[in-house]
Amino acid sequence: MSPEPEALRAAELRRQLHHHAHRYYVLDAPEIPDADYDRLFQELQALEAAHPGLLTPDSPTQRVGGRVLDGFTPVRHAVPMLSIRTETDTTAAGAEAFDARVRRELALPDDAPAVAYAAELKFDGLAINLRYEHGVLVLAATRGDGETGEDVTQNIRTIGQIPLRLHGTAPPVLEVRGEVYMRRDDFEHLNDAQRAKGEKTYINPRNTAAGAVRQLDPAITAQRPLSFFAYGLGELQGWPQPATHSATLDALAALGLPVCADRTVALGAAGLVAFHQAMGARRDVLPFDIDGVVYKVDSVALQQQLGFVTREPRWAVAHKYPAQEQTTTLRGIDIQVGRTGKLTPVAKLEPVFVGGTTVSNATLHNVFELRRKGVRVGDQVIVRRAGDVIPEVVGRVPGTRPAYVPNFRMPRACPVCGSTVLREKGGIDHRCSGGLFCGAQRKQALLHFAGRRAMDVEGLGDKIVDQLVDGGLIRTLPELYTLGVAKLAALERMGEKSAVNLVAALQQSKQTTLARFLYALGIRHVGETTAKDLAKHFGALDRIMDASVEQLLQVNDVGPVVAHSLRTFFDQAHNREVVEQLRAAGITWPEHDGSVAALGPQPLVGKTLVLTGTLPTLAREDAKALVEAAGGKVAGSVSKKTSYVIAGAEAGSKLDKARELGVPVLDEDGLRALLRGDGAGQDTGAGAAQAG
Ligand code: IVH
Repeated sequence: MSPEPEALRAAELRRQLHHHAHRYYVLDAPEIPDADYDRLFQELQALEAAHPGLLTPDSPTQRVGGRVLDGFTPVRHAVPMLSIRTETDTTAAGAEAFDARVRRELALPDDAPAVAYAAELKFDGLAINLRYEHGVLVLAATRGDGETGEDVTQNIRTIGQIPLRLHGTAPPVLEVRGEVYMRRDDFEHLNDAQRAKGEKTYINPRNTAAGAVRQLDPAITAQRPLSFFAYGLGELQGWPQPATHSATLDALAALGLPVCADRTVALGAAGLVAFHQAMGARRDVLPFDIDGVVYKVDSVALQQQLGFVTREPRWAVAHKYPAQEQTTTLRGIDIQVGRTGKLTPVAKLEPVFVGGTTVSNATLHNVFELRRKGVRVGDQVIVRRAGDVIPEVVGRVPGTRPAYVPNFRMPRACPVCGSTVLREKGGIDHRCSGGLFCGAQRKQALLHFAGRRAMDVEGLGDKIVDQLVDGGLIRTLPELYTLGVAKLAALERMGEKSAVNLVAALQQSKQTTLARFLYALGIRHVGETTAKDLAKHFGALDRIMDASVEQLLQVNDVGPVVAHSLRTFFDQAHNREVVEQLRAAGITWPEHDGSVAALGPQPLVGKTLVLTGTLPTLAREDAKALVEAAGGKVAGSVSKKTSYVIAGAEAGSKLDKARELGVPVLDEDGLRALLRGDGAGQDTGAGAAQAG
C-alpha cells in the first residue's frame, strides 16, 4: 500500500522545515526569507489539523504551544549527570595544577609528551540532557540532583536551535548534553521590553534562562529567546563514539546540533594557559556570559583510565574567571543629568572589583526601577558588569538593611541648574526642563554634536567640554566655532599644539553632510538612521525645517513621535537661531533637489543596470548616481538578473555577455528615457551600433 499524498507532503514539509531551521538558528545563514518559511510552516499546520494522524513528535509545529502543566514529571537519568571540579585559582596556576594532577594520575614520566586537552567555554546557563531515539528528540530533562531530573521536553522543543530530528543516519539511542543559555543581547532586549511595559526586569541571563526552562506554561518559554550549546554525551546505543572528545563535538555538529566554535585542542599546561588567557581577553565581546573555561582530557581512552572521584570525573576541570557579579554596599544615590535632560539615579558604591575592573558607580536606570528593586542607601546590593554594558545594580541582598531608611525621591529641581523637574504623564523618566540653559545638558549636547558620527570634531573630549561650559566660555553650540587658539591653550591639560589641532579639527568639521548635521543637533528621537532618511527624502535643510507633520510622516520609518519631535524642535525660535548661527559660522553640506531625485518617482526600483564603455556626456559616477537616485542598482558584471546594459563607446566583453544572455542594451539616450520613466524595456540597439 502506498502512502497517501498528504502523508508524503507532510514528510516533505517537515524535511524542508528542519533544514531551514538549522540554516537559520544554528548556522545563522538562512537560505529563504522568513515569509517563505512561515508559508511552509502554515501549510504543515493546516495538513496536520485536517489529518491529525499525520502529526509526529518531531514535527516543527510542535515547537509552539503545548498544554500548561501542573508540575514536571521526574526523569531518572540513564547515565548520571555529573558535575566537574572547579578550579577557583583564576591565574595560570589553576591550569598548571590540573595538568600536573592528570599526569600524576596517568603515571606519566616527566619526559612524556604533553597531554592533549579539549578546551572549551564554560557556558553560564542550565544543563540539559536531550534524548534522541532513532534521530527524533523524545525527551529533554534538567540535571536535577544528577540522578533524577525533570521532564522539560515541551519547553525545550520551543528552542529553535535544538533539532527535533538529527541529520543523517541516526542511532537507536543518542543522549546529548549541553547548556541552555540566553545571549546577552537577547537578555537586554527582553529587559528593555520589560522596562517599556513598566514591569520587573530580570537579574541576569543565567537565572532568566533557567527560569524559562522551568516554566509550567510552554507558551511563556516560547517567548523567551533561548539558545543551546552541546558539550557532551549521556546514554549511547549503536553510536560509534569518536576516539576523542573534540571529534565527538565535531560529530554532534554534523548531526545538526549547535556546538560552540570557540574551542581548541590544547597541548599541555602551556596550551591550557594560552586558551584561558585568550578567552579571558575575549570574554567581554562574546555574545553570551561565561564564568570560565573547561578542560577535558581529549582521548576517550585516557578519560576511561582516569575515571571518577565520587561525583566528579578526574579528566575534566572548570577553570574560572573573576566574577561579573559582586555584592557591595550602596553608599548613596546621585542624580546625573543627560543630554535630553533625563535624570538618572546613579548608585554610589563601596568600590568593588567586578567583571575585570573596579566599579564605584552603577546605573539604577530610573526611579521606578529603583523602587521595584527595593534598594535603599546602606543596603548590600548586587552589582553586575558584563561585556561592554555599563555597570548596573540588579538587586539587593535581602535582610541586610541596617535600620529604617527612607525611600529615595526624585528632586523637584534639577541638581545642576535648578530648573523644574517634570515627568510626562504616564512616562517613566524625569527630565530637567532647563534645556540648554542647564549646564549638564549643554555639556552633553556639545559632546553629542562633536561626536564621531555627528560633526566629528576630533579632540573635543569631556574634560575640555567640562572646562568650556563650567568656565562660561561656551553657552551655545555655535560659540564652539568662535574659539581661538589662545582661549583653548589656556585650558588645563591643553598645550599650544593641542589647541592648534582642535581649532583645525573644528575648521575641518564644517564640511559635512546634511544627515550628520541633522543628527548632531540632538533632536529627540532623531537618531543616525532617521537623520539619513530625512536627508535623503528632503534633500535640503530648509525643506525639513518647514515640513508639516503630514509631510514628515511620508518619510521612511518616521512615525508620529519623530514627526512631532521634529516639529516641536523647529517651531522653537531659539533652535532656528542656533541653526542659522551654525550656517553663518561656515558649516556647509551638499544639498539636492528633493523634489526630483528623492521625492519624484523611482522608475528603476528593483532594476539592476550594468554600465560599460564611455557615454557621450555622462561620467560613470554621475550615471551611477542618477540610477541610484531613481531607485536602481548598478552592478559590475552582467548576469541573467541584469535588467539593462548601458553601453557607450568601446564597450567590451560586458556587451558580448549581454547579447549572449539576451539582456536589453541601451545607449545614453536610452538611459535618460529610463530615468524619466518612459521607454522602459526598449532595446534601442543604438548602444550596440555605437560600440561596434
Ligand atoms: S562538561 C562530566 N562542559 O558546568 C562533565 N559542563 O559542573 C560534565 N557547563 O552545570 C560537564 N559549560 O552544565 C561541561 N563546556 C562545558 C560546560 C559545562 C558549562 C556546566 C554544566 C554543569 C557545570 C559542570
